[in-house]
Amino acid sequence: MLKIVLLVMIAGAVIIGGASLYHIHKVNTKNKTEMASFTEEINLNADLGKVLVIYYSLTGHTKDIARQIADKTGADLYEIQTVETYSSPSVYMKSKKELSSGQYPELKKDDLPNIKLYDTVFIGAPVWWYTMAPALYSYLQNTDFENARVAAFSTQGSNFGSFFKDFAEMAKNAQILPSENFNNIDEKYQAQVSNKINAWLNKLSR
Ligand SMILES: Cc1cc2nc3c(=O)[nH]c(=O)nc-3n(C[C@H](O)[C@H](O)[C@H](O)COP(=O)(O)O)c2cc1C
Repeated sequence: MLKIVLLVMIAGAVIIGGASLYHIHKVNTKNKTEMASFTEEINLNADLGKVLVIYYSLTGHTKDIARQIADKTGADLYEIQTVETYSSPSVYMKSKKELSSGQYPELKKDDLPNIKLYDTVFIGAPVWWYTMAPALYSYLQNTDFENARVAAFSTQGSNFGSFFKDFAEMAKNAQILPSENFNNIDEKYQAQVSNKINAWLNKLSR
């Protein structure tokens, strides 16, 4: 009996391992193809007026993209921060619970930006469970964009799910501009990612 249980466990581990490797291979191939289309230098020529970049980031990927947008546009940066920080691995279960119950985390509310002062507002967050990280739900619940031009961006492993649809439903009185998403990607693609950001910003020109 023990032998059978062991065999089933080994078979399960082999199947899961194989599926994970196949998934990683597929994502890497997709990233490589996408980045190949951004090899040629794209100059930034967007007029975005005064820009604000709002972001939430737990492990730094969204912060990196937010900073790049801010550097390119001379934007002010505002980081959404939760009162209680998430830790790993409980972040998975905690955030799942928050998303399914609609009980989003409390945010630090120091120095909230005045959106009215800006011509273009960027908002970025990681994809968690195929939607926005709960901290962005918290932020959006308490924000009225009062007709501001708002462009959303996500970072994710590979699948942004309903992030942008959910964003559009939650962003009160926002003029929603074209969004962009960024897979976490090898450092060697830095120049291509920069070109991808430039191409996106050019589309958002006033
Ligand atoms: C709780 C949790 C759920 C996640 N769910 C997804 C997902 O549904 N799809 C995906 O592609 N990546 C998912 N990821 C990966 C993150 O979206 C990705 O690592 C993101 O770039 C992290 O951003 P940050 O470094 O700014 O926190 C998840 C990560 C966590 C912690």
